[in-house]
Amino acid sequence: MYNEIRKGVIPAAGLGTRFLPATKVVPKELLPIVDKPTIQYIVEEAVASGIEQVILITARGKGAVEDHFDVSVELEEVLKRQKKEDLLQMVKELSEMVRMVAIRQKEPKGLGHAVLCAREAVGEEPFAVLLGDDIVDAEPPCLAQMVEVSRQKGGGVIALQRVPETETHLYGIIRGERVDERVYRIQEMVEKPKPDQAPSNLAVIGRYVLPPEIFPILENTPPGKGGEIQLTDALQVLARRMPLYGYEFVGDRYDAGDKFGYLQANIAFALKRPEMAGRLKEFLKEVIR
Ligand code: UTP
Repeated sequence: MYNEIRKGVIPAAGLGTRFLPATKVVPKELLPIVDKPTIQYIVEEAVASGIEQVILITARGKGAVEDHFDVSVELEEVLKRQKKEDLLQMVKELSEMVRMVAIRQKEPKGLGHAVLCAREAVGEEPFAVLLGDDIVDAEPPCLAQMVEVSRQKGGGVIALQRVPETETHLYGIIRGERVDERVYRIQEMVEKPKPDQAPSNLAVIGRYVLPPEIFPILENTPPGKGGEIQLTDALQVLARRMPLYGYEFVGDRYDAGDKFGYLQANIAFALKRPEMAGRLKEFLKEVIR
């Protein structure tokens, strides 16, 4: 069952209020990390992890997110005329990267509701969820690592990251039994606990491999914190019915929907680019001085 994960749901319908005013008109998923929009890193990770179809969850005013992966005839014509072959190639590859369908979430009723919007498109097979603003820099890609764990264990898998005690209130935190190196069987999940109430420092981040059984659970999940349908609440129910694993992935994760995380991602990715790493290091030294 978990040998093949073919479909990847990317929820990108949120309002991005943490990043206002930038996100008043521009979707946060399109803000660039160096020169590539956040969402493109995520789609590339999905494709590199074996995903054949991306199900993008979007909202009113966020149509540009799917346009980014569409063919732009005018742009291709201009680049051809100007003989900018490299750029033409890059733009073409982008539009041929993956099969994509977009589904509108009519109201931002929460991440759980966004995933539920993909129910028909996913059907009765296990699938992946990759949050549209969480970038993971890893080799092999984070989702590929998780697909391997789900294949071995035969259950849903959620990505975990250790966080400092002072930050547990920003995440969903798990209580789990360690069953293998980096792998935990999940017993409980607590949404944004204070440090003294956190069952561990293992935080849930934006990558999931889920069975289709999550959909009927989501349908019956009442609005939780903030009046939103929380994916965490549904996962909690799922974990009681069937094995659900947490996996401490190997790699670096950036919350690009948060201003500080966005800056960190930009610096980290720019430092990996040979054409700007040297100059950037010099500049950072100068600024700090
Ligand atoms: P976030 O909480 O990071 O997104 O949700 P947000 O609501 O856009 O951000 P802030 O807090 O207002 O700044 C995590 C992911 O779930 C998606 C978001 O687009 C993001 O990728 N999401 C969230 C939806 O698709 N629909 C929703 O109703 C809520």
